[in-house]
Amino acid sequence: MLKANIEKAFNEQINAEIYSAYLYMSMAAWFQGQQLNGFAHWMKVQAQEEMTHALRFYNFIHERGGKVTLKAIKAPEISWATPLAVFEAVLKHEHLVTSLINKLVSLARKEEDYAAENFLQWFVKEQVEEEASAEDVIGKVKLVDQTPGGMFMLDKDLAARVFTMPIDVVI
Ligand code: FEO
Repeated sequence: MLKANIEKAFNEQINAEIYSAYLYMSMAAWFQGQQLNGFAHWMKVQAQEEMTHALRFYNFIHERGGKVTLKAIKAPEISWATPLAVFEAVLKHEHLVTSLINKLVSLARKEEDYAAENFLQWFVKEQVEEEASAEDVIGKVKLVDQTPGGMFMLDKDLAARVFTMPIDVVI
């Protein structure tokens, strides 16, 4: 059985993960408006991944006999100055999510909920990848920024990203 404070914090994390999906869909729409459809595709894949993160929390709450309570999702930003600014915002957002995950780990430890702590380790590892992939695109955007046709090539590169439904997430 989940303790009430862990149930509440995990429900808040569902909201944060769905907000992440919403933010990345908003970024996808902005890129599409700039004719950068590969960048938009990358963001849509990212949004799908965020929904699987929300599902992991949703499933875990149920498995532990808790109650999923969904709240309103706040509206994301809708415009950015440049592609680089978008990815800097992604990195900033992922830093925030990392801090939220770390707080959940601290809470699980404080409450001696070892199942929750074990569940959260997947997210601790995932956040390292999330930050690294944003940094990777930031590096590439900076690299091609001064190159004629560079953004066109990078757009093609980002279009190749594929979403794969994780086999351990039940829908
Ligand atoms: Fe669900 Fe991008 O962290």
